[in-house]
Amino acid sequence: MRPARDDAARDTGGAIAQLGERLNGIQEVVGSIPIGSTTASLKDVEMSRGWRTWLLPTLAIIVVLVIGGGAWLYISQDVSAQIGGIGGPFTLIDGSGQTVTDRTFRGRFMLVYFGYTFCPDVCPTTLTTVAAALDRLGPQADQVQPLFITVDPARDTPKVMHEYTAAFSPRILGLTGSEQQIGAVARGYRVYFASHAAAGTSDYTVDHSSILYLMGPDGRFVAPLRTDQSAGALAAEIRKDMTER
Ligand code: NI
Repeated sequence: MRPARDDAARDTGGAIAQLGERLNGIQEVVGSIPIGSTTASLKDVEMSRGWRTWLLPTLAIIVVLVIGGGAWLYISQDVSAQIGGIGGPFTLIDGSGQTVTDRTFRGRFMLVYFGYTFCPDVCPTTLTTVAAALDRLGPQADQVQPLFITVDPARDTPKVMHEYTAAFSPRILGLTGSEQQIGAVARGYRVYFASHAAAGTSDYTVDHSSILYLMGPDGRFVAPLRTDQSAGALAAEIRKDMTER
């Protein structure tokens, strides 16, 4: 966000102004220290003056470096947080009940999709396309881990997720978790989802955003991929994004 950077610049400007005042203060204090006693030799006085000539410029340079470095770190972190803002750490549960985190998949691309197994249309279509796209990637598919993360953890237990994803491709890993864990990962990926009760029954559907996220081997966001494209087009896009990394 631009305002954040402007704030940083303003803060830095303010800090430098404060620093200037402080340096003036130091100079006054140093200036008020009697240099040598009346009995001190001329050599002592010269040494004291020599000490004064290098101390203040050195202090000033150190302070400028520290403030400049701090501001640079602050701004660069702000920028990278925006670029890499989608995704982030997660802790979830795989089909065998084992805990997995984002770190589990480091070194490989992650192809992340959010949905739920009771989904009547978009999810099964998307997983079918993903499975076919992976087949088209050939050996390169080994570098891609597709993850299907449920937004309906109440019904999508590890067993349900495993059986569901296995029906599309053994490559796809279904992940569930506690409501908190699912809420956290959905927030990280900016996923929208909302349950709607079906009239007259205890059933409900879950509206959810439908985007495939390609994440890099370092866990950072690479590209969003559309779900309404053919398996061939999806494979080509993934291959292109992988080679550009
Ligand atoms: Ni769906």
